[in-house]
Amino acid sequence: MTTGPTKRDLLSINDVAGDLPGLLDRALAMKRARAVGDRSRTRPEVELALIFEKPSTRTRTSFEVAVSDLGGRAIYYSSKDMQLGRGETVADTARVLSRYVDAIAYRAFRHSDEVELASHATVPVVNALDDHEHPCQIVADLLTLKERWPAGFRGRRLAYIGDGNNVFQSLLLGCAAVGLDLSAAIPKAYRPTREVVEQGARLSAVSGSTTTFSERPMEAARGADALYTDVWVSMGEESEKEERELAFQGFQINADLVRAAKPSAWVLHDLPAHRGLEITDEVIDGPQSAVWDQAENRLHAQKAILELVIPPRPARRPS
Ligand code: CP
Ligand code: NVA
Repeated sequence: MTTGPTKRDLLSINDVAGDLPGLLDRALAMKRARAVGDRSRTRPEVELALIFEKPSTRTRTSFEVAVSDLGGRAIYYSSKDMQLGRGETVADTARVLSRYVDAIAYRAFRHSDEVELASHATVPVVNALDDHEHPCQIVADLLTLKERWPAGFRGRRLAYIGDGNNVFQSLLLGCAAVGLDLSAAIPKAYRPTREVVEQGARLSAVSGSTTTFSERPMEAARGADALYTDVWVSMGEESEKEERELAFQGFQINADLVRAAKPSAWVLHDLPAHRGLEITDEVIDGPQSAVWDQAENRLHAQKAILELVIPPRPARRPS
């Protein structure tokens, strides 16, 4: 099955920046429908290939349940199960899978492989995390905040404490796209790329939001409406564990930091959490934690994302 040259990829938040309000509304509607037993079977018989070069609990499960809810099915491969793991090229893998499935979700070590897969696939490719971005995560995160802030994102501020990594880069772009102010406390050596900061600035110029950087977690958290952190050592960075754990000392979301934010502030973490490092038990298990709803929202966000990128059957032509 192929969708031809008009196919829609989601490799970066930039690819859906203008679609975020609609995506969030749709995800929320499907969440409400599911709560009363309606699974929104809007994409019957679609096939989704999941290629994962790294482990996953949430992303894999939410994609599998999402496509099943929509009426289709997922085929999961760890890259070790595929010929990709023994030297078949990413491009050839893309060409072949495009003849079988309607979309591919890819968790890759390298963003360049993500781009390579998308450029040779004739079906939509969705980034399920790479070293550059984790866009699906941020759709779920914004959904979690939207549920808590019915009046919208304007005038709200999210404080991010920690590594300027893949999750942060998507978060920066997502906040800028929806007009949510962002104050980030990140050690200088771990800031996002200049390219992403510039892309964020372009989105902020339209939405009217602000983004600030410091190396002072307290300053970033003071008066914030939400706090967000991610692991200090991402998948693939295990060899840097020691130096990273040293560099991020003081960049922990703990009770003191939560007290600096607004009393109504929510705490987010994309998970998996390293309790006692980037976040304390007391905070993640505390009354201000939105973390479990955030994890659930991966499912509802994934459904809206799949609907967006996979057109309904009649719009697709046979291969
Ligand atoms: N947050 C997230 O992507 O989790 P997984 O690695 O378990 O998919
Ligand atoms: N930054 C983390 C996110 C895990 C979901 C990583 O890449 O491992």
